[in-house]
Amino acid sequence: MNNSRSQSGENTLRNDKQIDDLLAKMTLEEKAGQMNQVGSSKSDITDLIKTGRIGSILSIKDVKKINHFQQIAVQQSRLGIPLLIGNDVIHGYQTLFPIPLAQACSWNLELVEKAARIAATEALREGTSWIYAPMIDIARDPRWGRVAEGAGEDVFLAGQIARANVRGTQRAEDAGKHKVAACPKHFVAYGAAEAGKDYNTVDISERTLRDIYLPPFQAAFAEGAYSVMVSFNEIAGIPSTANRFLLRTILRDELGFTGVAISDYYAIGELLAHGLASDMREAALKSIQAGIDIDMVSDAYIDYLPELVRSGAVDEKLVDEAVRRILVLKQKLGLFENFHMEPAAEISTDTKEYRETALQLACESIVLLKNEGALLPLRPDQKKVALIGPLGKDKASLLGCWKCSGSADRVESLYEGLSAVMTSEPEFVEGCHVLNKESASFKQAIAIAKKAEVIILAIGETDAMSGEAHSRAHLGLPGRQQELVEAIHALGKPVIAVLMSGRPLVTPWIAEHIPAIIQAWHGGDRAGRAIAEILCGRANPSGKLVLSIPRSEGQIPVYYAHKNTGRPATGKGTTQFEEPFRSNYLDIPNSPQFPFGHGLSYTTFAYNDLEIKTPSLTAVENLIVTVHLSNTGARPGIETAQLYVQDLVGNITRPVKELKAFQRVALSPGEQKTIRFEVPASTLGFHDIQMRYQTEPGDFKVWVGPNSAEGLEEKFTIMAKRAAFQI
Ligand code: GLC
Repeated sequence: MNNSRSQSGENTLRNDKQIDDLLAKMTLEEKAGQMNQVGSSKSDITDLIKTGRIGSILSIKDVKKINHFQQIAVQQSRLGIPLLIGNDVIHGYQTLFPIPLAQACSWNLELVEKAARIAATEALREGTSWIYAPMIDIARDPRWGRVAEGAGEDVFLAGQIARANVRGTQRAEDAGKHKVAACPKHFVAYGAAEAGKDYNTVDISERTLRDIYLPPFQAAFAEGAYSVMVSFNEIAGIPSTANRFLLRTILRDELGFTGVAISDYYAIGELLAHGLASDMREAALKSIQAGIDIDMVSDAYIDYLPELVRSGAVDEKLVDEAVRRILVLKQKLGLFENFHMEPAAEISTDTKEYRETALQLACESIVLLKNEGALLPLRPDQKKVALIGPLGKDKASLLGCWKCSGSADRVESLYEGLSAVMTSEPEFVEGCHVLNKESASFKQAIAIAKKAEVIILAIGETDAMSGEAHSRAHLGLPGRQQELVEAIHALGKPVIAVLMSGRPLVTPWIAEHIPAIIQAWHGGDRAGRAIAEILCGRANPSGKLVLSIPRSEGQIPVYYAHKNTGRPATGKGTTQFEEPFRSNYLDIPNSPQFPFGHGLSYTTFAYNDLEIKTPSLTAVENLIVTVHLSNTGARPGIETAQLYVQDLVGNITRPVKELKAFQRVALSPGEQKTIRFEVPASTLGFHDIQMRYQTEPGDFKVWVGPNSAEGLEEKFTIMAKRAAFQI
């Protein structure tokens, strides 16, 4: 065993030939070792590393331990190949940002990118060079707990967010020139799980797969993502883990993805539960044939791949391809050059900058849903404020569903935020528990509410009520919170509802009766301060919903980019009930409680003079549209102007609207700007009868406005080709 290697190890791979040379030296067991990922608590992990039977380790954050394991791998194993260290850094490593669903509501791509780079920088400092993010599963069912981790219902926006996150993650670098790999997940259509139940069956058409669920991954790959994580779910009867069409035909041949494909946790072993494999040997066989490069913690590859190759059941070429991709990834991350991670000392200036970024992102993630009579913002010197509700002093829940190395100690509660921003501290009482129904102290709550001039309700979900394996069938306020809200409302005083949750909640009574409502999500370290700054007008809310809020669970899935059907209900609100034989309900309107793209401000904006500069264009040209946007209120504000299109007639039915562009515009009071959109007509297409992507000639509508339910409307035409005489 040659253990005289320098810290960088002998195999300082600088080019393909050196990778080929290393591959040629490897035994089948060592190749299977590179394809084997274990958890950090794996017994006999040191021996396994020494004998080259481990290529990567999951969920270890102790940089000393990481360096120790790397030293064994590089200096004590036969070939000295460093390890990949992977962690779920979903919305922050040590500095916790708002959950991804909230971040997406900022529509601020630069800030999302910056937060991802900070998270990757903090992770790298502690030895993590592989981040299992961004989660980019399109999701239109808020019963599914993992909507918290994604970027909502829209294909275009999710793609933009995916790009921003991959850019931010993979641009992080430390003094040792180490890089971090992003790992967009979960490939693919995990968010289409039936009934919003996690890990549940997915049965969608290939066209839906290609037009809705694949595009965010195409965007992430176009941004250069180094790896991808494959999803647990089956699609039309074949689990992604064993889905050759998905992982070879689409991922490799069509999308040209050359990075590493890792299974999800024990997903190869789960092929037995799926009923797709009778034993682990068959599970390993089907997974390598499908194109899984790394087996996350099921031991199927390390236990069976060598024999499968020796018996001729698996062509060694498949193994070599996978191992080569893994070695290239390790080379890209600088691990061959230098496996040692210098645990950089906590740099206080960074921390300050990081916490400021977390505050800005938390502020911009907050969505003002309703503000009747301009009850908000409060004056900072507002006296007699009562803060009532189980999340008023809660810190842990605000960290959100993937807290990584975050700590509740670093979180500012809403109570602390209000106390810092207002001239006098609010009077606080919990009123009831988030979940259990016993410990309600309504009497106390009503007593302080009676003395108050303004009441702020801190209500919603704990962090443990969303995220992986945390789907909910009832999406109202848990526990006795709704009763508390109604008891306080009955006092007839000004009430503000602050909803802190990992998903949209179904709260029709609150939407109708409470004059001011903000959706604050789980906002991370600075959540409480951000909410307080918004409530007191130090920050003007600019967030816009990225996931429609249902009126009822019975409405799910409710999303804006729906089809028209042959019998659309055309009326607004309850007039729909008078329309016979239409696609609607007898008991609620079709529209959501609050639509995709909705979000109010403390100022007002006006859209005027929508102009189509290209009333007719070909499919290879750009749609050019301008609109005048003005701030007609008394405060500076940021408006996210959204551009939607509809392909009116196609050989495939098309959604009534699809977001194709947006711009965040800062405007001072009275200021007007001309906003120009340029949208490639090639992005207005879909997969046709032959499953080919193309933009069909025909008439289109275009809207520009503040959300998916309103805006200025115009028409344009896409021509088959430009007539000769037309220049
Ligand atoms: C989990 C999740 C996945 C995560 C992985 C490793 O089950 O599905 O998102 O990255 O396991 O923790």
